[in-house]
Amino acid sequence: MDHFTLKHGVLHAEDVALPAIAEAVGTPVYVYSTATIERHVAVFKAALANVESGPHGPLIAFAVKANPNRAVLATLAGAGLGADVVSGGELLRALAAGIDAGKIVFSGVGKTATEMRLALENGIFQFNIESEPEAEMLSEVAVAMGLRAPVAFRVNPNVVAGTHAKISTGGSEDKFGVAYDRAMAAYARAAALPGLAVQGVAVHIGSQLTDLGPSRAAFERVGTLIADLRAAGHRITTADLGGGLGVPYDPTKPIPPLPDAYGAMVAEVTAGWNVRLVFEPGRVIVGNAGVLLSQVIRVKPGVTDPFVIVDAAMNDLMRPSLYDAWHDIRSVTPNGDKMTANIVGPICESGDTFAKKRQMDVVKADDLVTFMTAGAYGATMANTYNSRALTPEVLVSGNKWAIVRGRQPIEALIAGDTLPPWIEEEQA
Ligand code: LLP
Repeated sequence: MDHFTLKHGVLHAEDVALPAIAEAVGTPVYVYSTATIERHVAVFKAALANVESGPHGPLIAFAVKANPNRAVLATLAGAGLGADVVSGGELLRALAAGIDAGKIVFSGVGKTATEMRLALENGIFQFNIESEPEAEMLSEVAVAMGLRAPVAFRVNPNVVAGTHAKISTGGSEDKFGVAYDRAMAAYARAAALPGLAVQGVAVHIGSQLTDLGPSRAAFERVGTLIADLRAAGHRITTADLGGGLGVPYDPTKPIPPLPDAYGAMVAEVTAGWNVRLVFEPGRVIVGNAGVLLSQVIRVKPGVTDPFVIVDAAMNDLMRPSLYDAWHDIRSVTPNGDKMTANIVGPICESGDTFAKKRQMDVVKADDLVTFMTAGAYGATMANTYNSRALTPEVLVSGNKWAIVRGRQPIEALIAGDTLPPWIEEEQA
């Protein structure tokens, strides 16, 4: 459920009419709803109410990559969430937003020594390490600092996640995690390293998962591994079950499993594990909490269907061109009439297509449209291709709204490049 609704025929974010934001900030612009974010946090927490997770309860570490805007992270910090980070940059952002270091897990296959040092200095909750060479590097870094790094190995359970290949991570040929069959040996080596305190097991098999079966299979393998590790003398106190729960994008498709069903499955599979559970949800927390607001530049007749050319492009929202992702496209002031159209941006490649042959609200030049469910992996994946400035972001709360990232002036984009002296001299 989200808080983007029609009021008196005009699409609102909570109590704010989207045309008011477009008027003040211009388009394209991402608009996020605080009430929707907070609702999703509450729903996810409630879904985990029955899992066994020790005295501190589960740690919900928001996957910062889904939406790293500082205002969004601060909203989540306020709701008690931690963070799952995958770079020094994300770690600094999470801390800057007020997320407690003791609630931060650090994932990713390519952590550098500098990033490890930064995380150790700040005293994060756990490193999810993905290979034996990484374990050795982390141990060396920690020893040099006189510390022991709290670690879990991310294991690769070799399950087929059933999602898009580019966001599937739990197959044996994917780059992620330690192969399940190597795990016992990897833990034995790590336990002997002086700079590591081995404490857990982690898994994450992919994103936009629409079936609980693969997650259940992966979690069951984690359960077996925990038992085997304990039998071998390891002290396992945490289990990080990753993120990945899908959200509805296309209203004509079956709804992905709801957090409640996910929580019930987790409670069943993890009963008796006797660990603190960690979760890394991203999309399910912020996906439906954001829209990309855009204006129609013009409608160009096509041979079969018209092209609705909007001022947002693939650089602002990459998901359709990268993953053939489906985003609902709505008129901000729908009159009930429908048309079939191709929705495209102004960028000079055919990949800059948001939808083909889409049944959608009738729109004409200057009308506002929204790309729904753009709160996750939207603004964060934007870039400046075709010298288009980075997309600004707005956060709404009730009848209040604020710019939480301003529109980058195009001059700033150009000034970011510098001339080498031999060209500068020539031009002087
Ligand atoms: N934990 C780890 C280790 C991850 O790699 C990810 C996402 C998550 C948690 C959060 O997954 P979520 O709950 O959001 O599904 N750009 C793609 C999605 C990439 C996901 C990468 N990893 C997209 O737009 O669909």
